[in-house]
Amino acid sequence: MIKKLSVLTAVLVGSVFVISNTQAAGGDPAAGEAKSALCAGCHGGDGNSATADFPRLAGQYEAYIVKQIRDFQKGIRANNDTMAGMAATVASVQDAKDIASYFAKQKMAKKPLEPINKKLASKGEKIFKEGIPVNGVYGCINCHGPKGKGRSKTISQFPVIGGQHRDYLIKQLKDFKSGLRANDPGGMMADIAKRLKDDEIKAVSEYLAAQLP
Ligand code: HEC
Ligand code: HEC
Repeated sequence: MIKKLSVLTAVLVGSVFVISNTQAAGGDPAAGEAKSALCAGCHGGDGNSATADFPRLAGQYEAYIVKQIRDFQKGIRANNDTMAGMAATVASVQDAKDIASYFAKQKMAKKPLEPINKKLASKGEKIFKEGIPVNGVYGCINCHGPKGKGRSKTISQFPVIGGQHRDYLIKQLKDFKSGLRANDPGGMMADIAKRLKDDEIKAVSEYLAAQLP
């Protein structure tokens, strides 16, 4: 299973270079700021949302944000009807790129929404770095980079998850586990989430929520 994931990762990383070579230029952040007024109502004007229902978009990779908007539009990401409705208002791919480039340029806020439980976070750190080999869980760090800050703009398939709100992270992992969210390439996140127990999901999310700038 770990082998299978490494192959998947290699395929994914390999294909990115092809995609990035053929992709048109990115968005225009100034135009995006003007187009993001609606988004600001939930995600915050600078992408630092004030409640855990709404993920932070500040500092997320532009291409990842565009993919999520498109996936919500196409119904490939079907784990939230509110956001699907909002995505439907983004009229063109260029608008999506502009808005995404604006949020990608914003700095993540330094404060977590809620105090961090350090003991739980340190349990989560181990899972994040080493995985849980006996259960076939591959270390998150291999795809999401040190502290979950991503690896590189050129492999934006692997989103920034460090510093994201804890309860949003827990929801995503549970949605991948139940199959409600199924827009991950090759089902690679589902494969991992299904191997995580609920207390392990809580621990790794606690660790990630603490990885602020
Ligand atoms: C009424 C509130 C609301 C508004 C307005 C809104 N969103 Fe969202 N958005 C959400 C919620 C809720 C989620 C989390 C869905 C889930 O639980 O998976 C979300 C998730 C997202 C995600 C996924 C982030 C990730 O880390 O995977 C992106 C990207 C996003 N929104 C972009 C936008 C953009 C762009 C706009 C403006 C066009 C917008 N949102 C407007 C509520 C909103
Ligand atoms: C083999 C690579 C890989 C590994 C290992 C991996 N992930 Fe992911 N993860 C991904 C990809 C790819 C996505 C983006 C899916 C998409 O396109 O929507 C993702 C998305 C996520 C998201 C959703 C982010 C968002 O903003 O909505 C969370 C949360 C997450 N991963 C947590 C984890 C945790 C925790 C671990 C370790 C237990 C882990 N991942 C291990 C590849 C991986």
